[in-house]
Amino acid sequence: PTGLLTDSRARPLQDLRISITDRCNFRCVYCMPKEVFDKDYAYLPHSSLLTFEEITRIASLFVAHGVEKIRLTGGEPLLRKNIERLIEMLAALRTPDGRALDLTLTTNGSLLARKAQSLKDAGLNRVTVSLDALDDAVFKKMNDVDFAVSDVLHGLDVAHQVGLGPIKVNMVVKGGMNDQEILPMARYFKDTPFILRFIEYMDVGASNGWKMDDVIPSKEVVRRISESMPLEPVAANYTGETASRWRYVDGGGEVGVISSVTQAFCSDCSRARLSTEGKLYTCLFATGGHDLRALVRNGRSDEEISTVIGSIWRGRGDQYSELRTANTASLRAERKVEMSYIGG
Ligand code: GTP
Ligand code: 5AD
Ligand code: SF4
Ligand code: SF4
Repeated sequence: PTGLLTDSRARPLQDLRISITDRCNFRCVYCMPKEVFDKDYAYLPHSSLLTFEEITRIASLFVAHGVEKIRLTGGEPLLRKNIERLIEMLAALRTPDGRALDLTLTTNGSLLARKAQSLKDAGLNRVTVSLDALDDAVFKKMNDVDFAVSDVLHGLDVAHQVGLGPIKVNMVVKGGMNDQEILPMARYFKDTPFILRFIEYMDVGASNGWKMDDVIPSKEVVRRISESMPLEPVAANYTGETASRWRYVDGGGEVGVISSVTQAFCSDCSRARLSTEGKLYTCLFATGGHDLRALVRNGRSDEEISTVIGSIWRGRGDQYSELRTANTASLRAERKVEMSYIGG
């Protein structure tokens, strides 16, 4: 970590997550529920999206400030046309001391089998794949579209074969919806190169109707798995890692739990988010962003934009998940930006 820039809680800026489209071909109930994201939903017009040149320029300023990891998200990032070109451009960026970035992407896996090789060739290092169930009926209940689980599993295999690893699989656990899939998922990915991570269902955005009752605490997830497949804790890979790591005592690999609700990890949060239309958000739960696109399109210099980024990060004090209670969650519910727009 270069630690060139720290916020008001001494957290360095290390990780940039860029949403490259607000569209998705899934309608996950916890992210883009069909009732809200229907055929009349007003997605951003193409002219509002940052161009690849604009994304790369802004990303390079973040890298100069100490960012070492860039994650492309959405929406579904593989829906953005010519994403390979963007990846080539980002893969060419270097840290101030000359290192390549950790360049990764979060996808729902539906187009992964088709795209894995070209993504790898373009310079992508790895992918993280969302998968909420192994059972087709439960999978469909979670994402409200007609995709076969086997297509995603095939995508995972192809991504592994072309070297887009280490590959993580993210499962959002929503009580009463897919928690019966915790054990089958754990069993399926045990003794494989894939690292399964269970994510507590969060109150992101304003449309998923989040209730504390729907959250299955990570502790419970670990307990359920341990009953048949004993787990022991492992130290974090790096400071500020979202997941707590657990490994199978029998050597069958590891799983992770991301406990944003029951054990918030804001104190080490080094993540900045760039929305599809170029706003900088300093927290996943922010109600407003800073318009970097306006600066870019108004002809401001790299130096000027860089100064703005620096002062925004220095002034950052976000710690939403640490302050959240059932009460504050409902208070802020109407004003938060959607995850598909800000980037998961
Ligand atoms: P790795 O580098 O592979 O460890 O990735 P990561 O865990 O930083 O990123 P990933 O996109 O895999 O994050 C997994 C999930 O954790 C996201 O989809 C979110 O649900 C949650 N998450 C990630 N970052 C944050 C954050 O800053 N705050 C909160 N509350 N949740 C987050
Ligand atoms: N709670 C937790 N994680 C979420 N994601 C989206 N919405 C939520 C939510 N409400 C994350 C999941 C998914 C990724 C694209 O975004 O990890 O895999
Ligand atoms: Fe699409 Fe991912 Fe949101 Fe599901 S969680 S609707 S796959 S962006
Ligand atoms: Fe970071 Fe905000 Fe998530 Fe806390 S809630 S970990 S500050 S993004």
